[in-house]
Amino acid sequence: MSEVRQPDAISARYSHARPRSQAQFDRDRQVMPGGVKGAYYHTPYPLTMDRGDGCYVWDVDGHRYVDFANHHTAQVLGHNHPAVTEAMATQLRRGLALGAPMGNEVELAEAMCGRVKSPARVRFCNSGTEATLHAIRLARGFTGRPKIAKFEGGYHGSHDAVEISVAPSLDEAGPADAPHAVPQVRGIAPHAVDEVVILPYDDESSVERLVSAHRQELACILLDPKAGVLPQRADFMRFVEQTARRCEVPLILDEIVGFRVGTGGIQEQIGITPDLTTYGKIIGGGLPVGAFGGRAELMDLLDGTQAPTGFFQSGTYSGHPLVMAAGLATLSQLTPAAFRHMNELTEHLCDGIARQLLRLEVKGKAVHSGSVFSIYFTDTELTDYRSLSGCDKERPRLVFLALLERGYFLSHNLGMNSLSLPIQAEHVDGLIDAFGEAVGATL
Ligand SMILES: Cc1ncc(COP(=O)(O)O)c(C=O)c1O
Repeated sequence: MSEVRQPDAISARYSHARPRSQAQFDRDRQVMPGGVKGAYYHTPYPLTMDRGDGCYVWDVDGHRYVDFANHHTAQVLGHNHPAVTEAMATQLRRGLALGAPMGNEVELAEAMCGRVKSPARVRFCNSGTEATLHAIRLARGFTGRPKIAKFEGGYHGSHDAVEISVAPSLDEAGPADAPHAVPQVRGIAPHAVDEVVILPYDDESSVERLVSAHRQELACILLDPKAGVLPQRADFMRFVEQTARRCEVPLILDEIVGFRVGTGGIQEQIGITPDLTTYGKIIGGGLPVGAFGGRAELMDLLDGTQAPTGFFQSGTYSGHPLVMAAGLATLSQLTPAAFRHMNELTEHLCDGIARQLLRLEVKGKAVHSGSVFSIYFTDTELTDYRSLSGCDKERPRLVFLALLERGYFLSHNLGMNSLSLPIQAEHVDGLIDAFGEAVGATL
């Protein structure tokens, strides 16, 4: 495979065509560390967007892109969907944050419990991060056990319990079949690392051994199915569920991305029944949201109406009526036919990307779950966190920039992209052609 030859030409063209984004970024950096939230930054500087409509977004320099990033997969209906904007306008007229629920919180909860078998009840919060934090706390309180098990490479948001071994350097990560717990960032409470048992993906015997060895101290197994990023074998995920049952450790399934793959999320697709599930992203219709739900025995610990249970979860803006209105309107559009449309087009897209890579003789692949997809430059079989380590890290950024030149907006490392409902076959075919050209431009 050829080495990347033209990084400067692609970056220079990007900068030349986007002076307003540059000026905005320079201003941002004066008062916000790094200018923007971490996930937006890429070199030479990130885009500033002006507006979005349907499957398109426009940057402040006037460039229009077909949006395949969809705000970290959350914008499942694209932008300005009339069902969402009308529901929000109606809610805006009724009022915001009136100090009591306004009735639409229960409608969204009913819609979610109606779609997925496992949760008998759900509780809303403001982000996926909060959802995993509260689900873990509930599991700890329910079992009275201190530790959690999570998978190496699994991402569950930004709080101390889960920002462990998200993307550890292989120098620190220990043996593949008994990974060390490595703090992801500085500042995490030192004891947090000791409270996490790290499991390897795609390795039944290690999961069995580690969970069995720690079963007396494990409050939960937290499973990120890595939907569309590092999709896991269905039989592996079923094995994790069985191991959790056998060892009597509650299973928390993180469906913050996975709820996008179909009406009942990943759990329905592969046939598992977690004790608790965490949600976020699409259930907020483009507004900040999180939720966790599960079996009544656990969730009812949060019901202090009859007698104090010792549990409590709240938040000033949790279950905000505007968010609930947008989320409910979004779910109402997500029929089985809508999922079929997005999922079939994504499969077609990944096949097209594979054909382009073959034609160009570039090692790489596109993986997907439902309508979430990622593109990697490697010929290694991608099964666990460590198998991702051999991927070319620089080419995705250049291909991302070269795709912008051709009118397509993906995530800047080409991981965790997605389709939205308004995207049609012509947009997907356009991306397949543009991808071939963009990769060609990096050779
Ligand atoms: C699988 C998964 N879990 C949790 C989170 C955290 O959600 P939030 O960013 O809303 O805090 C994310 C965010 O991307 C995620 O992908």
